Amino acid sequence: MARITAGVGSSHVPLLGVAVDQGKTGDDYFGPIFKGYEWTKAWEKAEKPDVVILVYNDHASAFDMKIVPTFAIGCGERYKPADEGWGPRPVPDVEGHPDLAWHIAQSLILDEFDMTIINEMDVDHGLTVPLSMMFGQPEKWPVKVVPLAVNVVTYPVPSGNRCWALGEAIRRAVESFPEDLNVQIWGTGGMSHQLQGPRAGLLNREWDNRFMDQLVGNTDAARWIPHIEYLRETGSEGIEMVMWLIMRGALGKETRCLHRHYHIPCSNTAIGHLVLEPVEPEAA
Ligand SMILES: [Fe+2]
Repeated sequence: MARITAGVGSSHVPLLGVAVDQGKTGDDYFGPIFKGYEWTKAWEKAEKPDVVILVYNDHASAFDMKIVPTFAIGCGERYKPADEGWGPRPVPDVEGHPDLAWHIAQSLILDEFDMTIINEMDVDHGLTVPLSMMFGQPEKWPVKVVPLAVNVVTYPVPSGNRCWALGEAIRRAVESFPEDLNVQIWGTGGMSHQLQGPRAGLLNREWDNRFMDQLVGNTDAARWIPHIEYLRETGSEGIEMVMWLIMRGALGKETRCLHRHYHIPCSNTAIGHLVLEPVEPEAA
């Protein structure tokens, strides 16, 4: 059967994609950020996941104010990198896994999560930047991807608790897929940042790190953080962190941290990165 073997949390800052595409990952500004992903790149090479369920948000590329799905799942064969205003990123197309994606969609919907099903869309930096951070610049991405898009752009966005519960349902869905597959789930977005208004540039190192602390071990404290706390403590865009909770929820009761990285600033945001594995309860 398919299994979720690990979870990855990561920022998906568009500027990181620019750094990769323009060969600047080793310079003074970007070097310390990319160094924090080297461990993960080597680990991913060894782990060889078959599929990544990639939780991200679209930034008005595939969706706009005409349609704002709260939770959407990509069931297509492939996805092209979106043109976000300066041409598509020079990265490979993203190959989907329609059989697994349809299975997850069916399982989630019968589990009372009303997913929007997407068969055709382009994917923006929210999805392609994490792939670049974890896999560099291959000719072809070494994994298939099931895109899972979350609305964190327009209020009302889903609660942390709902996101965590969706993760739990995703785990049930994956574990009922009969084919042997090594599946990872990535939660992307965040951390503290505010892009506009008088508080533009807001960063909160302490809060971000406490949030990452709460994703490790057997606490579920993070699922109960209210929206107002994200807004107040991490800026208007810090709400993207609820997407990390889908990843965390999918890892079960307890996790172990394999790797952690935090860096301020990148563009006007904080970079956070976490690699977790589920701690399975001992067989009775
Ligand atoms: Fe984002």
